[in-house]
Amino acid sequence: GDMQKRAPVVSVMGHVDHGKTSLLDYIRRAKVAAGESGGITQHIGAYHVETGHGMISFLDTPGHAAFTAMRARGAQCTDIVILVVAADDGVMPQTKEAVDHARSAGVPLVVAINKMDKEEADPDRIKTELSALDVIPEDWGGDVQFVPVSAHSGQGIDELLEAVLLQAEMLELQAAPDVPAKGVVVESSLERGRGSVATVLVQNGTLRQGDMVVAGGFFGKVRAMMDETGSQVKAAGPSIPVEILGLNGTPDAGDEFFAVADERKAKELAEFRQIREREQRLQRQQAAKLE
Ligand code: GTP
Ligand code: NA
Ligand code: MG
Repeated sequence: GDMQKRAPVVSVMGHVDHGKTSLLDYIRRAKVAAGESGGITQHIGAYHVETGHGMISFLDTPGHAAFTAMRARGAQCTDIVILVVAADDGVMPQTKEAVDHARSAGVPLVVAINKMDKEEADPDRIKTELSALDVIPEDWGGDVQFVPVSAHSGQGIDELLEAVLLQAEMLELQAAPDVPAKGVVVESSLERGRGSVATVLVQNGTLRQGDMVVAGGFFGKVRAMMDETGSQVKAAGPSIPVEILGLNGTPDAGDEFFAVADERKAKELAEFRQIREREQRLQRQQAAKLE
């Protein structure tokens, strides 16, 4: 298929209580139009927003554990990390960890200096402390964009989104919309009355309602697809997260998913993956015993 520009996929990281969730919630409230079904935006683990300058997808799984787990499974699903640092607190242990994670994954950072509405806010201190970690602001001669924001007042959020899109331009992100879908599982669970509900991020191709998919060790026909507002969608292209119904189990975050031609093939591949997973688990257990 022909390659086309695709939207950046962003993860938010940072120290405890520096405002990751508040920031994601603010952006979601401000930018995601509520669906027809009651006007309440539901939580689906990932969402995408249309800004004046382009689309951005957010993985709503902040937390280094999720990022590390996905990476351990070989899932490279983040294009840009927004590093949140509270302007009244400064660089803390998990801030450093996030810098290390992003660096080892080769993912560029955009720094959100959060809680600028607070009297104690000291953005220069954040710049100084991050510079010591070699994360150097553009206005100090480095190559990292620092944007002062407040997840409470909304100050600076549009500038932050623009900074992300500017960074994305430099990455020249591309994907082919006209091939069978392939991507990664963000999260999944069993829900009463709905069965297996999985949030997946399409990374290449287009996922369509009715497609037969394999996800981790499970498979099924996509019975229904919903966007972050709960509205049904028929198709989802590259960088779009959607919730899908129809899998015969709950794959793990970071598991690969892909569309296949028919159910026989899907079953075969899912079983093969289950066997491989079991073998790998046994090998890990044996290795642990030997230590
Ligand atoms: P963890 O998920 O526990 O690591 O925290 P978090 O990074 O998601 O932070 P969270 O969004 O839960 O915010 C922590 C606290 O900071 C909450 O009490 C928020 O209301 C507050 N907070 C977040 N952003 C801002 C901000 O921009 N200004 C002010 N004044 N408070 C903020
Ligand atoms: Na918190
Ligand atoms: Mg949080």
